[in-house]
Amino acid sequence: MCAAVYVLSTVTGYVLTSALLLKCPNLLHRKRRGHFLSRHISHRGGAGENLENTMAAFQHAVDLGTDMLELDCHLTKDEQVVVSHDANLHRSTGINANISDMVYNELPLYRCNLDVTFQRACICAGGEDKRIPLLSDVFEAFPNTPVNIDIKVNNDTLIKKVSELVVKYDRENLTVWGNASNKIVKKCYKENPRIPVLFSFPRVLQLLGLFYSGLLPFVPLKEQFLEIPMPSIITKLKDPDRLTRSQRFITWLADTLLMRKALFQHLTARGIQVYIWVLNDEEDFQRAFELGATGVMTDFPTRLKDFMDRNGISKPQ
Ligand SMILES: *[C@@H]1O[C@H](CO)[C@@H](O)[C@H](O)[C@H]1NC(C)=O
Ligand SMILES: *[C@@H]1O[C@H](CO)[C@@H](O)[C@H](O)[C@H]1NC(C)=O
Ligand SMILES: *[C@@H]1O[C@H](CO)[C@@H](O)[C@H](O)[C@H]1NC(C)=O
Ligand SMILES: *[C@@H]1O[C@H](CO)[C@@H](O)[C@H](O)[C@H]1NC(C)=O
Repeated sequence: MCAAVYVLSTVTGYVLTSALLLKCPNLLHRKRRGHFLSRHISHRGGAGENLENTMAAFQHAVDLGTDMLELDCHLTKDEQVVVSHDANLHRSTGINANISDMVYNELPLYRCNLDVTFQRACICAGGEDKRIPLLSDVFEAFPNTPVNIDIKVNNDTLIKKVSELVVKYDRENLTVWGNASNKIVKKCYKENPRIPVLFSFPRVLQLLGLFYSGLLPFVPLKEQFLEIPMPSIITKLKDPDRLTRSQRFITWLADTLLMRKALFQHLTARGIQVYIWVLNDEEDFQRAFELGATGVMTDFPTRLKDFMDRNGISKPQ
């Protein structure tokens, strides 16, 4: 008798959870209305086609019709918000100095060639534009293009200044910001809850816990963007022979746990966009869209655009 009740309640619970997860995810949560939806996202402006995070890169991506620019922010000594990936300028300019120790006008120019982090053995040869831009330059040049801002330092002034710029340029509805660190995302949210945030790494783990335990449909979420890597690309970035058995296993496990169509369907039905980074090959673009990702971040905006055109993956309305 007891066993029968147990089985019945388990089955009921399972059916209820599945129904809420996939069939009616909006029964408990009103669908969030985003102000933009991005399929084509240019990582650092498209680091494979122009020097990363330069105005030339952003202009090229916007000319191609990208839906969103992804970029990284730091603060200079004179408290200017600049668009640059690394805290230290050595890799990108050849000068061993930290951005936080230099005033904006002293910042060196980029090297002529930069490595592309997410494409093995690839160096990007830049054009004329080697300047590290201000965030305000980007906002001024592209007033209508959504921007994804990675806050690279846990610095309250940086967070405050970015929020001020977003407000000044009237972009609260055209921005998402955050970092893998939950401390930074919490500060961002506290500074200006009207700017959407992404899931930090600890929150991604929590999300997976909720998903696999069946609790996800019952839990409210403050984040509006899930931005995750496709773990399988690690085997392309590294020499496959140099990955140990356990590294290969962990990659496989992470890929299997994260790349879940049911998870993406549930989140997108709740109005949470899913972006996958950083994909540079057609087979990965295809896999991401087949899994139901909202958008793909790429270093090669032209390649992604060609793929989308050929496969009829349309620009969001
Ligand atoms: C840059 O900052 C890091 C971390 O704060 C520090 O360890 C390093 O010495 C600094 N580099 C230079 C060149 O000042
Ligand atoms: C934030 O950055 C500014 C400028 O680089 C620096 O002066 C300040 O000390 C930093 N604040 C913290 C809390 O690290
Ligand atoms: C952003 O969207 C909200 C909700 O639609 C609207 O009330 C608000 O005025 C918008 N903000 C700006 C700065 O356009
Ligand atoms: C997040 O911020 C940390 C500093 O707290 C920085 O080292 C890291 O590169 C950032 N990571 C991402 C993915 O933005």
